[in-house]
Amino acid sequence: MKRIFPASRLALLPTLLAVGCLSGAGALSAATTNYLADLDISQVSQGWGEPHANLSVDGHPLSIGGQKFAKGLGTHAVSEFILDLGGHADSFSAQVGVDDEVGQGRGAAIFKVLGDNGQILWQSKELHSGDAPVPVNLPLTDVKRLILAVEVPEAIDFAHADWADAYVVYGKKGRPKAISSIHEEAVILTPKSAPTPRINSTSVVGERPGHELLYTIAATGDRPMTFAADNLPAGLLLDPQTGRITGTLSDKGEYAVTLHAKNALGEAVRPLKIVVGSQIGLTPALGWNSWNCFASAVTAEKVKAAADAMVSSGLINHGWTYINIDDFWEVHHDSKDPTLQGPQRDASGHIIPNPRFPDMKGLADYVHAKGLRIGLYSSPGPWTCGGCVASWQHEEQDAQSYAQWGFDYLKYDWCSYGGIDKGDTLAGLQKPYQVMRAALDKVNRDILFSFCQYGMGNVWEWGAAVGGNSWRTTGDINDSWGSMAGIGFRQNGHEKYAGPGHFNDPDMLVVGKVGWGPSLHPTHLTPNEQYTHISLWCLLASPLLIGCDMTQLDPFTFSLLSNDEVLEVNQDPLGHQAARIAVKGSLEVWAKDMQDGSKAVGLFNRGYGSATVTANWADLGLTGKQKVRDLWRQQDLGEFGDSYSAEVPRHGVVLIRVWPAK
Ligand code: GAL
Repeated sequence: MKRIFPASRLALLPTLLAVGCLSGAGALSAATTNYLADLDISQVSQGWGEPHANLSVDGHPLSIGGQKFAKGLGTHAVSEFILDLGGHADSFSAQVGVDDEVGQGRGAAIFKVLGDNGQILWQSKELHSGDAPVPVNLPLTDVKRLILAVEVPEAIDFAHADWADAYVVYGKKGRPKAISSIHEEAVILTPKSAPTPRINSTSVVGERPGHELLYTIAATGDRPMTFAADNLPAGLLLDPQTGRITGTLSDKGEYAVTLHAKNALGEAVRPLKIVVGSQIGLTPALGWNSWNCFASAVTAEKVKAAADAMVSSGLINHGWTYINIDDFWEVHHDSKDPTLQGPQRDASGHIIPNPRFPDMKGLADYVHAKGLRIGLYSSPGPWTCGGCVASWQHEEQDAQSYAQWGFDYLKYDWCSYGGIDKGDTLAGLQKPYQVMRAALDKVNRDILFSFCQYGMGNVWEWGAAVGGNSWRTTGDINDSWGSMAGIGFRQNGHEKYAGPGHFNDPDMLVVGKVGWGPSLHPTHLTPNEQYTHISLWCLLASPLLIGCDMTQLDPFTFSLLSNDEVLEVNQDPLGHQAARIAVKGSLEVWAKDMQDGSKAVGLFNRGYGSATVTANWADLGLTGKQKVRDLWRQQDLGEFGDSYSAEVPRHGVVLIRVWPAK
């Protein structure tokens, strides 16, 4: 047990240290004061923005409750700064609070100082901007690893968190070392796919009458494999070698088809429901998007390479479908880069892609020929977020171009539309999405419509009515625990707005090699955090858009994206989104209903050390014995009377599926 000093002595701590009373004679001569701001603060993981030395997250002089500080660390919740102390440090001191820059009373943050195995050494109450700085003075005898964390009670908005005048004192020699995350072995839990056939593609697909369908029967198992479909309605054709179903259906209705995938070792059979009507995107989109890896460095070659890798890696056999180009396929308004220059539109106003994308139709054909679908990006304003040509007053022409080229997905990003409408009324927020919806409805092609406006005006409440197939509920994600967990665990309450054809979108995946530009790095999420990310996004029935360089998929990342029992949670045809059904401190249980009457349940540990998490059947609305299966390991765990408990690692998850026992 760590010895916590009584408050009366804490106030005296700096003085005691300075005169060497705590560390014994001689300590004074060797004592060093190591300011946080002088350490490698690039290791700070935070939910928004960049950490700053001696300045707030927004780059202003540190200021808490009207008091200015020359030294300190300006960060943004949810954040973590991990220091390897080697067990030799004497004490930690700081003055903490929410920076005044956000305006009186705004932001809410809880500061925590944690020791080995996540033991809480100190924590503040909930602090808001305007509150006086709170002093922390802690002895650290024997602490090897210190975590300086800032959590939030609810949303992370305005949680500009300052560790002002913060330093670690060493009595003897030594210096804290900032580390990016606690090292964890990347343990692959997903078993290798069986050599016998297994069909993994979505079991329900929507199509509009008279519009072209491309549905690839995704199946794992040894090749050669042949495919068949019983009761395929006239108008659709199946290629028995590739498993691709193409064609159009003109009559509205539901068509029950039985799919077969056969190889030398056996045969898989699975129903497919084709629903011809007004709805498409009946399950969340599964695919890839260029932004989180390449951002403004995207090219047609990179997009083709992503499509190639989707096939060669085998991910296509697990149901991954879309290859989406984000920003920067259009001409830039003022870039000096010749590959981003050129005529923006032709004489009649049709958009002309930049020289990196000389043949959009050819690119779409290339992707379709692999059994995949293709997407692109625009904004309702004159310019995209990156400053490229967007759709303002050309919506119908752009929708026609997308359809002519053969695109299947549009991400539509508010951005410069802010210059046209401040977005302070609901009607104003909805208008640009209604305009593009109407334009898409006029074209002879099914184009999935993905709203991107960061959750403004509670878009989840009206996104479906305005015709969105999905809508971003948040700002941009990054590959830090603060960002990913801050976004993911904040989705509770949105579940009532998700359903077949319309899903909440907490932004794209940050596993694998990401980077938002020419240089990439392996995700900063630890392996357990990556399990949490994928499990939570599957439970949330979120679109899953891989954000990494597909050509550099490592075995661990592949394992995260190829677990069919986990993906099934995401793709369940009921289209339910999980809700948080229990919280105990940093331990949370989330659950969603599955079509077969079972429940998918995530046991999450957002804390700093490993902990036992319990899912109570009563909280899940279940009574009696239940059969439990571990989805990552694909193993039955047995039958359990009234609850299931598991030891869950720091920032980790155990994902289970629960059926009534026979
Ligand atoms: C942001 C959007 C990102 C990405 C980027 C492109 O507004 O949230 O996901 O699309 O624009 O500039």
